[in-house]
Amino acid sequence: MPGDGIGPEVVDGALTILREVCSHHNTELQVESFPFGGASIDKHGTPATEEAIEACKSSDAVLLGAVGGEKWDHLTGADRPESGLLRIRSELGVYANFRPVRVYPELAHASTLKSSIISGVDILIVRELTGGIYFGQPRETNLDAEDPYSFDTMRYHRSEIIRVTKKAFDAARKRDGRVCSVDKANVLGSSRFWRDIVKSYAEQNETGIELTHMLVDNCAMQLIRDPGQFDVILTANLFGDILSDEAAMLTGSIGMLPSASLGDGPGLYEPVHGSAPDITGQNKANPLATIASAALMCRYSLQLEEAATKIEQAIENTLKKGFRTGDIFTDSSNELLVGTDEMCEQVLSSLQQKSGQPANQ
Ligand code: IPM
Ligand code: MN
Repeated sequence: MPGDGIGPEVVDGALTILREVCSHHNTELQVESFPFGGASIDKHGTPATEEAIEACKSSDAVLLGAVGGEKWDHLTGADRPESGLLRIRSELGVYANFRPVRVYPELAHASTLKSSIISGVDILIVRELTGGIYFGQPRETNLDAEDPYSFDTMRYHRSEIIRVTKKAFDAARKRDGRVCSVDKANVLGSSRFWRDIVKSYAEQNETGIELTHMLVDNCAMQLIRDPGQFDVILTANLFGDILSDEAAMLTGSIGMLPSASLGDGPGLYEPVHGSAPDITGQNKANPLATIASAALMCRYSLQLEEAATKIEQAIENTLKKGFRTGDIFTDSSNELLVGTDEMCEQVLSSLQQKSGQPANQ
């Protein structure tokens, strides 16, 4: 689902990489593509057709670019491109959104934060993705009332909190074994409920995982004060949306941040960044977030862990060689400014070298 803006450019690149690693692992990749978001509105009058949703549901995994743009900004509610994205997340039941934030040493100086603060940062944000205020009912905007009003509902059921908590704890066990659950329990009842459920889940099911709790405003501060303190951050839909954009800047650019959205069926893989209309079609977009999302797809949906690691190493090698798209280019003497296509080609050639195949095969 390439979507809008730079979506098609970055998805194209990631597919090339996926095809390459699959060929190394005797895995035949079957790809079907559907217009999505604004592109689907233009073609079919709806941001996500039933056909596209059914195709996603019956696939092993979905790769998504980005949705939205000025052209569709006048639309409201279910007509907006973004509502297609929310619908697909909900239809696929991908309730746990993994947003790994890793600072590549080569890019430490590209961040707006001091390298001493961000070096070595390796955080996994686990964002609840199919509930909370994004989906809670009732919701209403009433412009005809004497004093017009609008409200959304932040609602969580125990089962929704438990299943995403389990994913976060399972992930933490393979990492540093620490989960920080982030909420606004000093103000919101739904957050106090969230905190209680997470606590009791940990008491009943976990030994050896360190669970802490933090208020979301403090977390926003701690992320730029001392991001090294975090291992896994577990949080609700809206808080995770905001904190993951903030955390992206630790890596130098949101163009570096991949995501995996997991439930009990097919996984959904998308870069954290948006459709970037300002650079669309100019071969300027950073494809690395989408390529890294393809790596996560290999890891979590295709059971190709080795392929995932290979892609991640190829990204690292490409950065080591100095190749940079505009968003991570800092003008230092050993950096080479490249476009989307060349960045993809460099990752591809690094993959081919790694596997001992000639670069032109
Ligand atoms: C994200 C995006 C989406 C979200 C928008 C486009 C609906 O910001 O994936 O973080 O808010 O979830
Ligand atoms: Mn977001």
